[in-house]
Amino acid sequence: MRGPLVIGNWKMNGSRHSIVQLLDGISGLGRQAGIEVVVCPPFVYLGEVGARLQSTGLRLGAQHVSEYGSGAYTGEIGAAMLADIGCGYVLVGHSERRALFGADDVRVARQFEQAQGAGLTPVLCIGENAEQRAAGQAWEVLRRQLAAIEPIVEGRAPCPRTLVIAYEPVWAIGTGAAADPQEVQLLHGRIRAVLGAAGRDARILYGGSVVTDNVRALMAQPDIDGVLVGGASLSAEQFTAICELATGS
Ligand code: 13P
Repeated sequence: MRGPLVIGNWKMNGSRHSIVQLLDGISGLGRQAGIEVVVCPPFVYLGEVGARLQSTGLRLGAQHVSEYGSGAYTGEIGAAMLADIGCGYVLVGHSERRALFGADDVRVARQFEQAQGAGLTPVLCIGENAEQRAAGQAWEVLRRQLAAIEPIVEGRAPCPRTLVIAYEPVWAIGTGAAADPQEVQLLHGRIRAVLGAAGRDARILYGGSVVTDNVRALMAQPDIDGVLVGGASLSAEQFTAICELATGS
């Protein structure tokens, strides 16, 4: 059974003050039946947010993890540290990390491995940009990015308890123009097929301008198991409505 998963990626937004207000507005979401809700605050707030999430049922996630275990890697955060402070999830390979911070496929694969090794659930983010889409290369790009988990797909590495992939077309992120649900379904179906046996229980999320107006149509597709929400996750009202709509309520 693939229950719906909604992840809020706060990116580099917020302050102690705004985060407390946001959490006050969404803390009830963790008690909603039949849905898993995760929030990914900036690193410096993880501890405080984690403490406030205690007994709410909401899950804590990080936005990035180092490809290294520990040691002389100034500014990096290791997977074991994230697990230590109560994180359950971590995004790996977000397009902003790929485009701005040099996260290539090899590094993303190492980050995935680190996260999995520490008992976290890595959320592998993949997606083509506008030029790649225009050139008809969307699937080629996704296929290449999925190579990060080839050892799992080929049975050479253990499959995480929950395998989570997030398809986020770069051209749809922060633009207000989400991808067409049927086009997303087509790609999600192909992603699941590529995952083979691991695909059956894998949750494949869509991200890119998800708002209250489009979440229902997206979630109605059989291979869209949840959403990864950026901008709208910073509003308690919008994020609450998205979670409610994602469960069909
Ligand atoms: P938006 O929802 O703001 O388009 O961001 C999507 C995203 O990048 C989530 O990781």
